[in-house]
Amino acid sequence: MIAAYSASSQARVNAALETLFNAPSPELARLYEAMRYSVMNGGKRVRPLLAYAACEALGGDAEQANGAACAVELIHAYSLVHDDLPAMDDDDLRRGQPTTHKKFDEACAILAGDGLQSLAFSALLDPRLNGADAEIRLQMVSALALAAGPAGMVGGQAIDLGSVGLKLDQKALEYMHRHKTGALIEASVKLGALASGRAEKDQLKSLQTYAQAIGLAFQVQDDILDVESDTETLGKRQGADIARDKPTYPALLGLDAAKAYALELRDQALHALRPFDASAEPLRDLARYIVERRS
Ligand code: IPE
Ligand code: IPE
Ligand code: MG
Ligand code: MG
Ligand code: MG
Repeated sequence: MIAAYSASSQARVNAALETLFNAPSPELARLYEAMRYSVMNGGKRVRPLLAYAACEALGGDAEQANGAACAVELIHAYSLVHDDLPAMDDDDLRRGQPTTHKKFDEACAILAGDGLQSLAFSALLDPRLNGADAEIRLQMVSALALAAGPAGMVGGQAIDLGSVGLKLDQKALEYMHRHKTGALIEASVKLGALASGRAEKDQLKSLQTYAQAIGLAFQVQDDILDVESDTETLGKRQGADIARDKPTYPALLGLDAAKAYALELRDQALHALRPFDASAEPLRDLARYIVERRS
């Protein structure tokens, strides 16, 4: 089920994303090529899948969430390009290929990330990708800005980089993870739900509880895979957190307790979906996938 759902949703978001990288003039060919390279280079597309699945859980058509799906993946791609820069995690490999600053150069990677961030908001407001009412589009833009910005992902990244070599306690580590990764995952679900045009307040609340649990679980599993996977499977360098003395769940709790915690978060997420019928099955599958994935 998850495999078929993933394949069709990945194809849907990839087709929509493909339309966004046509350079308006030859002078900008390299910048657009770098943006395209950073987005169309594989990736699991978990955030777009969550947006589609949330839209469908509320009885919408997945197509309605195309703008939301593109927007969250563009923000994610920008965050990875910048996360890999020498000034941040200094990684050479991403999705099995050279990172953007290795393939192009650092200035180009910085600008490609900046460009992708702006493109995300354009995608949300592009009538070909988002046909929601103006009021709903405004709510989507506002939710994405909050999640991506200094009170969300960027804030989490600032804490991450300020914590190298420090021993965070569980509360501080959770705060960091909820911001650097959780915020955008939460926004993915919210934007998808809003795109359905039928989100009720109590439904948004249940979906938020779901998304907060899987958002944290996603980064806990990312930390676990850094310890026990391998570079080839991951498509990024295994052991990078340990090498850089990053605060992670396995470092704090040990591997077994980190795994148990990921499963507990999955169960919290599934519990939050109890009010929903079978149309929320893709969301349930995604909660299971997030803690079982190997890459
Ligand atoms: C990696 O995200 C960075 C984190 C926020 C943990 P993903 O594991 O979703 O990366 P891709 O998009 O599949 O490459
Ligand atoms: C990345 O976290 C989070 C964001 C890019 C916002 P990581 O630094 O753990 O991601 P990977 O492991 O490099 O993919
Ligand atoms: Mg990082
Ligand atoms: Mg990193
Ligand atoms: Mg990581």
